Order: sequence, then C-alpha cells, then structure tokens
Amino acid sequence: VAHAGDRYFAYQAMCPHMEVPLEEGFYDASVITCHQHLWQWDVRTGAPVGLAEAPLERYELLEEEGVLYVVPASALAQAPLFTGIGPTTLEAIARLARRETFDGGTVLYRPGDPANDLCVLESGRVQFTIGHDGRTSPAGFSLQSGEVFGWNALLEDQPVRIATATCLERSTVLMIGGRELVRLFEEDPGAGYLVMRRLASLITHHLTPAGAR
Ligand code: FES
Repeated sequence: VAHAGDRYFAYQAMCPHMEVPLEEGFYDASVITCHQHLWQWDVRTGAPVGLAEAPLERYELLEEEGVLYVVPASALAQAPLFTGIGPTTLEAIARLARRETFDGGTVLYRPGDPANDLCVLESGRVQFTIGHDGRTSPAGFSLQSGEVFGWNALLEDQPVRIATATCLERSTVLMIGGRELVRLFEEDPGAGYLVMRRLASLITHHLTPAGAR
C-alpha cells in the first residue's frame, strides 16, 4: 500500500519481473521502483514506466473509521453484475461499499425490511427462503463468494425485501447503498446499462426452475 499525496493505492506485493518484494525497493510518492533491475511504475495507475515490461496488479481499498482494508480482487471485480465495468467506476463502487462480517446463522434481512443495500458476498455462504413465519420454503438457491444479492436495492418500486437471507457460515459481505449506486450509474450511463441488463438476466436465472434453464 502506497501513499501518494491525497490518496492511498494498493498493488501486488511482489515484482512482476521476478519474486522480489517491492517493499524493499524505492518510492518517491509518484513512482515505485524495484531495486533489483529498476523496473518502475506510476503509483496512481500501476502502469509501467521506463524499463518495466508489465503493469502492477491493482487492488481496491476500503476505508472504515480510519482503517484501510485491501479488497480481494475477486469481491467486486469478479462479481458477475459488474463484469465489464471500467476501473474508474469500479473504484467508485468500492468506495461506496461497507465491509461487514456476520456469524453463521445471522439473518441479514427478512421480508418487509427496507431494501437499502445491494450486497456482494465476499466470503462465506448465504441462503434464501421465501414466505413468512412457519410457512417459509427455500427459495431454491444459496450463494457462493463473489455473487450479488439484495438486487431490489437498485429498483425504485421495490423498497422492501421479499425474502429472508441467512448466513450459513461466517460470511463477509460488501454492502453498497442502492441509491448511491444508482446516482453513480447516472454519471456513467454505459456502466448503468450493463448492470441493469445483467440484473435482468440474474433475476431471470434465479427465478427460472433449474430444469427449465
Ligand atoms: S525483479 Fe524487479 S525489476 Fe527485476
């Protein structure tokens, strides 16, 4: 993790040339230099500078109450809903996300709860049931890490949850405010169009009986 004036940036720890830790190299607040063969990278983009022949892999950072967390690349970048979205918008989404960890058995929401957040499962498993009280039944799917749920946070006419989401094991979830996300997509309509198209096919996929897919 490198500090560059007003922001922090996170990159792979080892040089992409050979297995040399970049923390042993040089850094002048704008360029990262590997001390071994002097490959260099722009700290704001990870793009190669001068001799370097490969970029650095960059990771999103989340800041919560003064603590920085490096977001595993799989959490947002590999979420099917966000596939194909440019790095700038993906970074903006990462900045909106709150990272929360729940014990197994925790109910994340029930029918009727406000649908404020879109959720990305970073690790663990979450199961869904539909119905109320003693008349619940499995909604037919549980999610694995990297998958997205709580989609109705993005829909204006669906202000409440319609299922129960329960952690089957200790799970970490990125919670992204639906309204803030929609506002962000208004600034990047191309990304918004992609996400809404994916959202439609994700909902169709989960609502279609397995034998009919
Ligand atoms: S090992 Fe880093 S530049 Fe060669």
